[in-house]
Amino acid sequence: MEKLLIDGGQSLEGEIRVSGAKNAVLPILAATLLADGPMQIENVPHLQDVTTTMELLGRMGVSLTLDERMNIEVDSSTINELFAPYEVVKTMRASILVLGPLLTRFGQAEVSLPGGCAIGSRPVNLHLHGLEAMGAEIEVKGGYIHARSKRLEGTHLVMDSVTVTGTENLMMAATLAAGTTIIENAAREPEVTDLANCLNKMGANIEGAGTGTIAVHGVEKLYGCQYSVLADRIETGTFLVATAITGGHVRLKNTQPNFLESILLKLKEAGASIHCDADWVEIDMYKRRPKSVDICTAPYPAFPTDMQAQFTALNCIAEGSGTITESVFENRFMHVQEMQRMGANIKVTGNTAIVTGVDRLVAAPVMATDLRASASLILAGLIAEGQTIVDRIYHIDRGYECIEEKLTQLGARIRRVPH
Ligand code: EPU
Repeated sequence: MEKLLIDGGQSLEGEIRVSGAKNAVLPILAATLLADGPMQIENVPHLQDVTTTMELLGRMGVSLTLDERMNIEVDSSTINELFAPYEVVKTMRASILVLGPLLTRFGQAEVSLPGGCAIGSRPVNLHLHGLEAMGAEIEVKGGYIHARSKRLEGTHLVMDSVTVTGTENLMMAATLAAGTTIIENAAREPEVTDLANCLNKMGANIEGAGTGTIAVHGVEKLYGCQYSVLADRIETGTFLVATAITGGHVRLKNTQPNFLESILLKLKEAGASIHCDADWVEIDMYKRRPKSVDICTAPYPAFPTDMQAQFTALNCIAEGSGTITESVFENRFMHVQEMQRMGANIKVTGNTAIVTGVDRLVAAPVMATDLRASASLILAGLIAEGQTIVDRIYHIDRGYECIEEKLTQLGARIRRVPH
């Protein structure tokens, strides 16, 4: 199994380009199932989750062509199976995103229920309730969701809690439904808006994406189009924290800092000086030690759960104590035990971690447990004394494009080894 070796102690300096957003490209690839005609998707990040989604679509008979710049052409006219098997869904929960498109376009779908997850229970009940309210018949049998419907009907949905992929699945289902669907308490994440922009370019009629109330006026057909995926705000945030933690100075290009407000505020509170324009952000923390910050995760526009582990790493070596409260997932502190093995002073009670900064972390072999936890362990390794070995890095390859190449470009000493 591959590992990353990191020799800590280098300040990051320089400039890199941010990739397309994982959590935008996955629903957009699912949305290609709705198009009558080929779709061209650009700014696609080279990630394992993208490969898995392509495999899933490919198994359904969808034609996919990838060019050398990772632009993907998807033609769903060749589809011959409305089925998402367990062996794919268990490796990537976002596979559930094919349910809404398949059902609304073809009137049926069989999608495996996602199984357990390292960060929390993550049910999909709200996806299913929403589809039922639109007229679908759903039965869960043998670990699979069996869904059928005549044309879905627009309805008024009030989501019990905010769900990102739930909002996306229902929004996609509603595009081809009869009449108008209102989704209240919708997720406002920029990736939801990016999906809505793509769907509208395909001919959908969606209003209010990016707010808590989305209105989808159903249309008869959606068409193929060309669409360029939004920049990854979590990758951007991860590199910003990497720079802050190492006392560096970095510019990130091809990103959209307007979607990073809560993250930038916390970095400023930690003592970083931040400059940005519409499509770049620069952080300067030159040789300074960060100050601890308090974080509480919540749906957008509040502080994202996908940046919680990285800020835990920052607090580990910051001046003072900071409280990290995880309110989105019930079990997203798996990185804490690994950080403690590197000398971090962290106490977890319930969904809160109190982190008291130490003068230095010491390298240790550590194990990644999920995508963002792996990122946080790499960050800890960048500042630790000695050589940190991060194991199980297949997690990181799911969601960060060329992370060690990008970090190397910024002066980090990091390399991948086979065992
Ligand atoms: N929830 C339910 N019922 C549902 C759906 C969600 O109770 O039917 C609960 C979940 O258990 C959780 C909360 O609602 O406690 C929020 O979950 P949400 O559905 O918003 O998460 P998701 O859509 O499964 C997406 C991202 C995650 C990100 C979360 C929160 C994608 C593909 N995944 O997941 O990304 O953490 O939203 O922002 O968009 C990551 O990139 O590392 C990652 C885990």
